[in-house]
Amino acid sequence: GDVAVLVPAAGAGVRLGPGAPKALRLLGGEPLLVHAVRRVAAAPSVAAVVVAAPAAEVESVRALLADVAPVVVVPGGDTRQESVAAALRAVPAGPQIILVHDAARALAPPALVESVAAAVRAGADAVIPVLPVVDTVKEVSADGVVLGTVERSALRAVQTPQGFRRDVLAAAHAAAVDALTDDAGLVEKQGGVVTCVPGSEYALKITRPFDLALAEHLLATAPP
Ligand code: C5P
Repeated sequence: GDVAVLVPAAGAGVRLGPGAPKALRLLGGEPLLVHAVRRVAAAPSVAAVVVAAPAAEVESVRALLADVAPVVVVPGGDTRQESVAAALRAVPAGPQIILVHDAARALAPPALVESVAAAVRAGADAVIPVLPVVDTVKEVSADGVVLGTVERSALRAVQTPQGFRRDVLAAAHAAAVDALTDDAGLVEKQGGVVTCVPGSEYALKITRPFDLALAEHLLATAPP
């Protein structure tokens, strides 16, 4: 395998309601993180998985994943970007393709991991899985007045895993100043070219209680 996958899992997950850190919320009786790690580790190209856990949960996350896949667990940071940077520093020598995946996208299929990795292997600097946007999207002022309608055909919703040549991701993080919500955004800021591959509906981000209910249903139908 020539791929390492970073799994930032250090977020509090307040939008899911009060309780455990989001990555440790249960889906089908197992934490989201366990599902996410099991599914990425099942992709044949994956040689290493590095998880960034909440600082207080590093030992418990190590124990949780011990029987799931060989993983390195490091403490995450205050932002997703810091958590990714911490995981990146812990990647073993060897893999030249790095994927960054959210623990919250617990049902992302192994085949999606492979298609993102394949596009990096084929020469892309950075690769993101995307889906078309189904809703009409409007820009709205703080007081709720519509400022304009965005041309939907040019929009895509962006998922993870996002894939990078190792040197590209390291350079993007080294140069990062503002915290962004995804890693491809850092590459864009460096003037890098980010290319798209088709995403998967199973890679939905489990953010709100509705998403968790949907994911419970999907899990029961043996996702790909
Ligand atoms: O908050 P958001 O949904 O964007 O989080 C996306 C992913 O980033 C989650 O898997 C979350 O655990 C992770 N994260 C992190 N460290 C933070 C904040 C979020 O690893 N400080």
